[in-house]
Amino acid sequence: MMAKDWTPSSWRNMPIEQVPDYPDPAALADTEKRLATYPPLVFAGEARKLTRSLAEVAEGRGFLLQGGDCAESFAEHGADNIRDFFRAFLQMAVVLTFAASQPVVKVGRIAGQFAKPRSSNNETRDGKTLPSYRGDIINGIEFDEASRIPNPERQEMAYRQSAATLNLLRAFAQGGYANLDNVHQWMLGFVGGSPEAERYRALADRISETMNFMRAIGIDAESHPSLRETDFFTSHEALLLGYEEAMTRVDSTSGDWYATSGHMIWIGDRTRQEDHAHVEFCRGIKNPIGLKCGPSMEPDALLRLIDKLNPDNKAGRLTLITRFGHEKVEAHLPKLVRAVEREGRKVVWSCDPMHGNTITLNNYKTRPFDRILSEVQTFFDVHRAEGTHAGGIHIEMTGKDVTECTGGARPVLAEDLSDRYHTHCDPRLNANQALELAFLVAELVKKDHAEDAARKVAAG
Ligand code: TRP
Ligand code: MN
Repeated sequence: MMAKDWTPSSWRNMPIEQVPDYPDPAALADTEKRLATYPPLVFAGEARKLTRSLAEVAEGRGFLLQGGDCAESFAEHGADNIRDFFRAFLQMAVVLTFAASQPVVKVGRIAGQFAKPRSSNNETRDGKTLPSYRGDIINGIEFDEASRIPNPERQEMAYRQSAATLNLLRAFAQGGYANLDNVHQWMLGFVGGSPEAERYRALADRISETMNFMRAIGIDAESHPSLRETDFFTSHEALLLGYEEAMTRVDSTSGDWYATSGHMIWIGDRTRQEDHAHVEFCRGIKNPIGLKCGPSMEPDALLRLIDKLNPDNKAGRLTLITRFGHEKVEAHLPKLVRAVEREGRKVVWSCDPMHGNTITLNNYKTRPFDRILSEVQTFFDVHRAEGTHAGGIHIEMTGKDVTECTGGARPVLAEDLSDRYHTHCDPRLNANQALELAFLVAELVKKDHAEDAARKVAAG
């Protein structure tokens, strides 16, 4: 069904938050006009496939792994970064697939994650005030006037970089790089080098045995493409609506509108006001949508947003990405889960353990690994108690050995933060921390499974 009174530009009549102040509206309009003629980055059939996979997650038969940079940057656009990210991400996926005995839906925060909401419009340094940095698709991070003035040309750069990133990811996902044997070998390398090797080895060994068994009975990557290929999807925050509108196209098979800037897009916690522009834009496109839910989200407001964004209650359409902070989950998540359950709404519940756990240490924004893990643990506890499916995690990570989040098995200390602090926005888990998190989440997922199985036996 088509959303009522909706067009790709109907958001323009609504109040809107987080809009950059472009000094030259005519140049902006020209850029948007050109973008609207460029080829789509993704096509509708892929978005529908992702919706179907997420529907399985909503029904408790899959797990969503979503992760990548807080903000992609033009300067770090290169093959090595993309490869290293994908390598870490796939290893996480293998660990989680095995632990869950369920498909893992793989969604990167990549190939379009360029726009950032900011708490303040301006930034002041040494008495000088300039517009805040809003992501490379809008302005430059350098603290000088020329960089900070929003420049529409950046949107075309973001489009082209997204296309190139997505092209390489598609090649990796389908061209042999994602071969399970490779990924498994990388994972064994990680386990061998980890101070927590003992803890992870049992799971890693069982994966090895399973792979050996499959090979023994003739199931290998040559004969079974599913062992050497994977489906990988892209996602980003749909913040810069002019860009999103320009990339929105009618799908000729269904007649529906799709955002073709990425497979999944989400609405941020700062732009989810129900009568505002971002919700308006997202309600009319058919892609799977994410909705970030922070501590200020109340059950009634959430239900109204669900009505707007998923009026047909279609499983897979809506993913609720909760981000409360490790000390607040307990107080906020259960009431949302109960309201959604009571009303019979089909959603994927995913945990973003990053954004509620940001602190400042030695003038660096950082996130302690323990708190990240603790938020995920409580998320699982709450869903276990409510009888709902802990459906996924949403994390900020990189494949590089950065020092942005503290802690982990080979701990990054407060005094190490300055060593390799490269993020353009929020602190990310490095490759080791990300994999470690996957192993720890695997333990939580397995515990859920054991309890489900026991409950089924008890129920006869
Ligand atoms: N195709 C399966 C999947 O995507 C198995 C698979 C192949 C896989 N390569 C992978 C799983 C890499 C995780 C990571 O689930
Ligand atoms: Mn972030």
